[in-house]
Amino acid sequence: MSVIPIPGDGKITVPGLLQRKSPAAGSQTPSKKITCLTAYDYPSARLMDEAGVDVLLVGDSLAMVVLGHESTLAVTIDEMLHHTRAVRRGTKRALVVADMPYGTYHGDLSESVHNAVRFVKEAGAEAVKIEGGERRLELISRLTEAEIPVMGHVGLTPQSVNALGGYKVQGKTQNAAEQVLRDARAVEAAGAFAVVLEALPRELAAQITEDLKIPTIGIGAGPDCDGQILVMHDLLGLTFGQAPKFARQYANVGEIISNAVREYCADVRSGAFPADAESYHGQAVVVRKRKPISIVEC
Ligand code: KIV
Repeated sequence: MSVIPIPGDGKITVPGLLQRKSPAAGSQTPSKKITCLTAYDYPSARLMDEAGVDVLLVGDSLAMVVLGHESTLAVTIDEMLHHTRAVRRGTKRALVVADMPYGTYHGDLSESVHNAVRFVKEAGAEAVKIEGGERRLELISRLTEAEIPVMGHVGLTPQSVNALGGYKVQGKTQNAAEQVLRDARAVEAAGAFAVVLEALPRELAAQITEDLKIPTIGIGAGPDCDGQILVMHDLLGLTFGQAPKFARQYANVGEIISNAVREYCADVRSGAFPADAESYHGQAVVVRKRKPISIVEC
């Protein structure tokens, strides 16, 4: 199930992404922002890949937007592997990154490495994403040594929802901002090739982006990051309830689905579906009348 990038065919690779780090302020080289979206299945991965997105993240947000859980905590490694395989089958050009779910990298280091290897070997992921900064230093180094590219994730880390007391913007005080900067630096020092900055003041995200040599991928972190990521269901209008302020909705696919299904039900009920043209034709079969069944008592 592993993937071998063919150089020169436009395939997005880890070294290719590192080269897309925005040039320093004042430089003449134009920046080429990195586009990332979440993907959870074959058709959506295929459509997004063919539309030219650079990175497809099989996010553990699938727990919420696909499986209907309250948070990301419940999704299992087997569920994540299953969805990563489907995304792999639908993707040719984009880099496929798999999110390591809660509980699969929080204990023993060797077991964490073993779990990450499963995403590469069994599901075809080209990199894994793990949440946390300074406290993941050793793990990120071990994964990098094991030839597994790592995308870090700092700021609001949804797997820490219970510890953080909710989904809140991070880095708002001087101390908190310094901690996020230390986290981002630790992720870079440990060998990550990119880092997601989630729910941060844009000024802080801009400073971190300037400070790091690896690309920053923002979500709710303003426009100055080297790339952006959104949850596909937010972008397409497929979520229920209030979406976060940063999640721009580009289409209302939820409404398209509801209208199509209502129309289908009405057509079935009225007899308008299926039409003759949607039916197969053949010789009419003579149907003999049923003989009455006699019940023999024993
Ligand atoms: O799981 C996810 O979708 C994510 C992104 C929002 C970064 O972690």
